[in-house]
Amino acid sequence: MTKRALITGITGQDGSYLAEHLLSLGYEVHGLVRRVALEDPARRFQRIAHLLDKVTLHAASLESYPSLFHVVSQVEFSECYHLAAQSFVAESFTDGFSTMNTNINGTHYMLAALRELRPKCRFYFAGSSEMFGKVAETPQTETTRFHPRSPYGISKVAGFELTRNYREAYGMYCSSGLLFNHEGPRRGYEFVTRKITSTAARIKLGLAEELKLGNLEAQRDWGHAKDYVRAMHLMLQQERPDDYVVATGETHTVREFCERAFGEVGLDYREYVKIDERFLRPAEVDLLIGDARKAREELGWEPEYTFAEMIREMVAADLEAAQLEGGRAAHFSASRV
Ligand code: NAP
Ligand code: GDD
Repeated sequence: MTKRALITGITGQDGSYLAEHLLSLGYEVHGLVRRVALEDPARRFQRIAHLLDKVTLHAASLESYPSLFHVVSQVEFSECYHLAAQSFVAESFTDGFSTMNTNINGTHYMLAALRELRPKCRFYFAGSSEMFGKVAETPQTETTRFHPRSPYGISKVAGFELTRNYREAYGMYCSSGLLFNHEGPRRGYEFVTRKITSTAARIKLGLAEELKLGNLEAQRDWGHAKDYVRAMHLMLQQERPDDYVVATGETHTVREFCERAFGEVGLDYREYVKIDERFLRPAEVDLLIGDARKAREELGWEPEYTFAEMIREMVAADLEAAQLEGGRAAHFSASRV
């Protein structure tokens, strides 16, 4: 029987890679998108432009229970990957209320609609290493105590607990991934890795002069999003629902990321990176490093990308984009003379 998956957040980095992965496995893939996205497909569907004739999109908002209920009522989904969220930590300090509303109520609405209409549908919650925050131990595992340091982190702890509660209270198949940072050429430009690779590429081509960053000493366990979506799928194929850490087990500083990314284009980051206090956070997560032993042993999951390969791929994609941008700018100025 064909498996039917609903992906919330299909227009995001992970949603787009997961849609590709599920399609390659023969799934019928459905995506939940905001209505505004349907009105501006060229811009809002960039990451899934190549999939639009292979997936079915449904308009709904995480802020509206009736809209989610309606989508869930339309199709007999066998798996639901709940990825949609306000995912930028810095923004959650600026507007914690919206982040909480979208991330906590949105997750609760999805769970409640599934319980009502599709109690057999398997549910994946996109938990985060940000939940470990001020880490209680190193490396972090499934049993490490949570100490979130941002409204975003708090919202993810709440989503995680809701997911566990639906599993325990209603016997639903609900699993959470505790995913450490994962990146790639489809990463949003506001996240530090993409900010670094895109600006390094633009500096190399003379389209930018400097890169302003906040805390260069923060350490992250960075993997590739393509590897991490495979783990999400594997979690929903197990006999019993459970929670899993997904991480590489390596940690690097933001400074080291800069050194490597600028190195890829033959530049010394120290000449271009400037510290700007606007990018410091009221409370920082200093060090993340995950122990994914359980995922390796129980899911048979292994990451394929190394840290260096991931940066190389991101810089190469951003150089290509910057070349196009440079070409367009040259064409524009030539057409004005
Ligand atoms: P992303 O690129 O920021 O994508 C977020 C998605 O959520 C987008 O499709 C966005 O739609 C959608 N969304 C946001 N608010 C919504 C709303 N009110 N109603 C409906 N859809 C809404 O995030 P990502 O990196 O793919 O991450 C996917 C999930 O994993 C998120 O929950 C994130 O918090 C979590 N996570 C990510 C990482 C990581 O390192 N990437 C690590 C751990 C956990 P629009 O396109 O319309 O904005
Ligand atoms: N974004 C950003 N911009 N971060 C900066 C900057 C800057 O200019 N300068 C330094 N940093 C530091 C941040 O302070 C943080 O310590 C680190 O770089 C990583 O920041 P982000 O790339 O914004 O990611 P994040 O770790 O806060 O959150 C990401 O990973 C979480 C998993 O741990 C997001 O993808 C979350 O959605 C995800 O849950």
